Amino acid sequence: MSIKYSNDKIVIVKGDITKENTNAIVNAANSSLMGGSGVNGAIRSAGGSRISDECRAIISRIGKLETGEAVMTSGGKLEAKYVIHTVGPVWKGGDESEEAQLSNCYINSLKLAAENGIETIAFPNISTGVYRFPKDLAAKTAYFTVKASLEKYQNINQVRFVCFDEYNYQLYLKLLSSDKKDNINLLLDFIPYFESNKNKFCTFTQPEKGEDENIYTSYPSYDKGLTDFIDIVYETGFLKENYLECLKEEKIENADNSEIIEIIRESDLLLLRSILTYFVRQERFCDGLWGEAAKDKIFLNILYRLREL
Ligand code: APR
Repeated sequence: MSIKYSNDKIVIVKGDITKENTNAIVNAANSSLMGGSGVNGAIRSAGGSRISDECRAIISRIGKLETGEAVMTSGGKLEAKYVIHTVGPVWKGGDESEEAQLSNCYINSLKLAAENGIETIAFPNISTGVYRFPKDLAAKTAYFTVKASLEKYQNINQVRFVCFDEYNYQLYLKLLSSDKKDNINLLLDFIPYFESNKNKFCTFTQPEKGEDENIYTSYPSYDKGLTDFIDIVYETGFLKENYLECLKEEKIENADNSEIIEIIRESDLLLLRSILTYFVRQERFCDGLWGEAAKDKIFLNILYRLREL
């Protein structure tokens, strides 16, 4: 199965975080913000002494950091403008709130990022090296904490999980794809609705004369099933974010519905999202476009393709 999303806020990367060009990268630091090995060592050697100087200044101002806290320095010579330093928990068997503390690392880092207008940020797999936090539990904690926080911090456009080792990389890829799959399953539940011939999908009201004597044109009224479907499309984040880009990229603006059904037959997930976005976003007050697309079996064909993926 190849799932391709272009506009998702969560991206999984394999590699060295010091090379990332996000606005900020996060450091898996220690409570005294001293140099260390692992990702901390790599960030300091790539970023230069300015980062350590700023760390020292922070410690002399506020004292040692608690586990889960986050502070920010500049990025020195790094491509990223800022480094957010957060202290992950040392794994002690799991009964000492390690999971909640790890969650706090991500929450506090994102909070700090949002407060400072940072739009893109890269995280390492905090605590999974020297601090020995089990990698699969750390990945789940990180992924779901970030996903929930992104709802709150809408101005953060992208979070990259930068995995240094293959094991972590595979864990994150699995989390991301099963998350997407759950979303797709929610949409697939609508197949019987679109297959049923009993639905009208869309009816139009009669034109009416208003109190001002003007004639007001008819407007579409949709089946509950159709509006539920659109709600789920929104809720699952299945839409491509940038509607205009989606039109340009996929050249679907001028295709008629039968041509679009042809395109759907060949589409990957990315293109299916664009087509869905096109129909959902292009809704105008009177045109009943969702109803047309439902009648022409556009949505049904998209769902059939999703079922195959
Ligand atoms: N880029 C991205 N990830 C990296 C890099 C890098 N250049 N180098 C190492 N990693 C990964 C490791 O593979 C691990 O999965 O970062 C993860 C976290 O490992 P550590 O750096 O050991 O961090 P942590 O487990 O949180 O321990 C923090 O280690 O270096 C000291 O001063 C630090 O005392 C603190 C402790």
